[in-house]
Amino acid sequence: MADTSSKELIALAIKASEDAYVPYSHFPIGAAVKTESGAIFTGCNIENASFGLTNCGERTAIFKAVSEGHVKLSEIAVYGHSAEPISPCGACRQVMAEFFEPSAKVILIAEDGVTTVEMTVGELLPYSFTDLT
Ligand code: THU
Repeated sequence: MADTSSKELIALAIKASEDAYVPYSHFPIGAAVKTESGAIFTGCNIENASFGLTNCGERTAIFKAVSEGHVKLSEIAVYGHSAEPISPCGACRQVMAEFFEPSAKVILIAEDGVTTVEMTVGELLPYSFTDLT
């Protein structure tokens, strides 16, 4: 059962998906990120006619936080129009590994808005590449 602050994050991720720009896939994604200082940023997927330029919802939310000075992130909720809770792509997992601790909570939400899976960033991307040392 999600706690109160996680429920807020879930609601914001679902709401963020309403702004998804998805004329090609028709597959909206919304994400909400909480920073260590308690600020919240949301994002959606933004597609492009040159398909490879698409930005996923998770990365939009994370990049919005980072671009406003928040590089320590603590929790993320991701909503997708999938029957099972959405599974973040590899690129987003790598970006999560950059800005979250491996123990950070990731809440994945299915299309019904109710079915969730909770994982950690470390579980999503074990043995990740995080620095050059
Ligand atoms: N997508 C995301 O936004 N996040 C993911 O983790 C998986 C995929 C988007 C990219 C594209 O706009 C659409 O979903 C279909 O791949």
